[in-house]
Amino acid sequence: MRYGQFDDKRREYVINRPDTPLPWINYLGCEAYFGIISNTAGGYSFYRDARLRRLTRYRYNNAPFDFGGRYIYLRDRANGDFWSPTWQPTRRPVERYSCRHGMGYTIIGSTFAGIRAEVLYFVPLGQNLEIWQLSVTNEREEPVSLSAFSSVEFCLWDAWDDATNFQRNFSTGQVEVEQGVIYHKTEYRERRNHFAYFACSEKPTGFDTQRDVFLGPYRGWEAPAAVERGSSFNSIAYGWAPIGSHQVDLTLHPKETRNVIFLLGYHENPQDEKFDPPQSQTINKRTVRPVIEKYLAKPNADAAFTELKDHWNRLLGVLQVDTPSIDTDRMVNIWNAYQCMVTFNMSRSASFYESGIGRGMGFRDSNQDLLGFVHMIPERARERIVDLAATQLATGGAFHQYQTLTKRGNNDIGSGFNDDPLWLILGTAAYIKESGDWSILDEMVPYENQAGTETPLYDHLQRCIRYTLERLGPHELPLIGRADWNDCLNLNCFSDTPGQSFQTTTNKDGKVAESVFIGGLFVLAAKELADLAYKRGLEQECLCYVAAAEKMEATVLEHGWDGEWFLRAYDDFGHKLGSAENEEGKIFIEPQGICILAGIGQRDGRAAKALAAVRERLATPHGIVLQQPAFSRYYLHLGEISSYPPGYKENAGIFCHTNPWIMIAEAMSGNGDEALDYYLRINPSARESISEVHRCEPYVYPQMIAGRDAPTHGEAKNSWLSGTAAWNYAAITQWILGIRPEYEGLRIDPVIPRSWSGFRATRQFRGNSYAIEVRNTQGVCRGVKKIVVDGVEVPGNLVPLADSAGRTIQVEVDLEG
Ligand code: GLC
Ligand code: GLC
Repeated sequence: MRYGQFDDKRREYVINRPDTPLPWINYLGCEAYFGIISNTAGGYSFYRDARLRRLTRYRYNNAPFDFGGRYIYLRDRANGDFWSPTWQPTRRPVERYSCRHGMGYTIIGSTFAGIRAEVLYFVPLGQNLEIWQLSVTNEREEPVSLSAFSSVEFCLWDAWDDATNFQRNFSTGQVEVEQGVIYHKTEYRERRNHFAYFACSEKPTGFDTQRDVFLGPYRGWEAPAAVERGSSFNSIAYGWAPIGSHQVDLTLHPKETRNVIFLLGYHENPQDEKFDPPQSQTINKRTVRPVIEKYLAKPNADAAFTELKDHWNRLLGVLQVDTPSIDTDRMVNIWNAYQCMVTFNMSRSASFYESGIGRGMGFRDSNQDLLGFVHMIPERARERIVDLAATQLATGGAFHQYQTLTKRGNNDIGSGFNDDPLWLILGTAAYIKESGDWSILDEMVPYENQAGTETPLYDHLQRCIRYTLERLGPHELPLIGRADWNDCLNLNCFSDTPGQSFQTTTNKDGKVAESVFIGGLFVLAAKELADLAYKRGLEQECLCYVAAAEKMEATVLEHGWDGEWFLRAYDDFGHKLGSAENEEGKIFIEPQGICILAGIGQRDGRAAKALAAVRERLATPHGIVLQQPAFSRYYLHLGEISSYPPGYKENAGIFCHTNPWIMIAEAMSGNGDEALDYYLRINPSARESISEVHRCEPYVYPQMIAGRDAPTHGEAKNSWLSGTAAWNYAAITQWILGIRPEYEGLRIDPVIPRSWSGFRATRQFRGNSYAIEVRNTQGVCRGVKKIVVDGVEVPGNLVPLADSAGRTIQVEVDLEG
């Protein structure tokens, strides 16, 4: 069953009933000011950091699930009837409801008793504010008198504190109201130099800023007292819960449309110009007033919306494809690319499943997010790489995450995840392949953000490799540390105390448990670094990395192979995990994927065996599960992985992040049919028709789909913020369609289904635009017979870099078995 449909032309998903199985959300903002918004206008906003600079309050895990948002009420003054055009929070039945989630904007509208109302929400580029553009049309035959009430609930900045420290919070809230603009200034009197504002394009007839006055005692947001009685109380918050609400009265003739703009924004003043007059405690508004005036004017708001659309057209225009598969086109051309941008911006901080207070920028996560994003704005990828590297420890190890506002690593989620550093090499290599910017390797970057410790970025990468080599275990495989990519495989944790964090508890000295996954990742990373060393003219060093990769490969083949597939790990007792010998957890997906990606087992048939085992034991119609058999009980020596009920999350869920590794492995092995088959099993658009089973948004990937051991098999969870976005994008564009940026040019090596007669793509790369046509007249999966570039045949399958820029280059590719 469907709850809406794709509008590919407008690059929107159109939801046509408000009661989706879960909140179906979108993101606002692409630079510093961000928000999440659901299909019923739920959500919140923040400046840069979802924990430390939260503008508005949201109630996670509420009932109804999605509560707190950018709500507008309309009230018919003739009969007192009121409703919300976005359905929530009044939940009065509305007609012709629709929510259009687009690229950085959302439009929600409905009709109630002959009044059509629609709200467009977006963040103008370069601004720290959001626009809500309300348009109301009177579709009745007679005039109507309406009152519109806006509403937001302010968060007292630090979202963690806001949700816990009530003995203090109830006494700190402060606002100012001046010329209809509501200023939220809690803690501005002391150390903060920033405030929020909520403004309205019409002269309001009233306002409220104290929540419990606006709502009335023992009442909720469904029926605020001010709305019910039809007039604001003009309350001024002093402590308790500051909100912003305007009342705007509108009289509309039949068929007349009126527009009202609301602005919610964030503003900083210089420390010594906080107050006006300087000795007062009144906010200096001279700096913010021009911004407010500008965006309250409809022509400026309209222009900002057009700019936002142009921005996205430009970004998505970097790669557009036209294949026989609509689900592929839609995800590659629109939604998957968009999701990659969002994961790049948010890491794992703020979604409907990530509360914005738990996790900052993940070290391994952000390095992987780059893979799906780097072609759109390489400069931002560069900045991110440098920020990440600056949190690296001098040992080569990494803080598992850093906070965006401070850009400092922290130990809240531990450190010593032994795979972390290796991802920095993959991220950096991807950046250089896309941009050709070798100068990044010479960028001076500190360790642990300590001034005076700067070395070229290249040295950081060297330390990443050394970090692994200095931590090898009894079989010469890498020690796992707290965990590797699988955060929940905690082989040194041995926690028997309820509530202890699996990520920060360590009861073993970590000298035994080894990870085959890190072994594979090391081979991949060492080969990448060997290439970089070679390019820098460091031939000796290059050979060392090649040798290290070969040695690790041999070790993996010797101690990391179980006979039919790659082993997962050795535990703290030196016993195998992910082996036919095990009763549960016999086979894991991660080493099959990463080892084959690294080229291990490609020559001697082991890769093919491992892929056959995946197909036989792990693949389901809803995607490939993480391991089998699921752990049916808690194992002290395995940690969090066995804490989940079978079929969920890392315990045999379909952890979507890992599926593209198998797609890539299949593609590398020349199996185009298998690769695309796996791709479509988890492709959100391909799953749209089973939305009642899938339940999450049909336009973005979730982190997890319940595996076959769960009664809810096929149900998705944790949508949006997942490495799934970047890896699926890489799998389909670089390995299945086979358009791969490399140092020397654009590699074109498609591995597609036999039934495809070909496809077209346009790819901007290093200053030129490549118009690519792939023809598969022989019905093969792989094998480039001939590439003709602007009428001239080139050898092999690499389109070499062009010596001119700004051109469109025609690339014709013929496949043959
Ligand atoms: C989460 C984490 C990611 C980890 C994965 C598997 O998605 O963000 O870092 O690799 O889980 O545990
Ligand atoms: C939990 C989750 C895992 C995530 C980790 C982050 O362990 O299961 O997916 O990576 O938390 O701390």
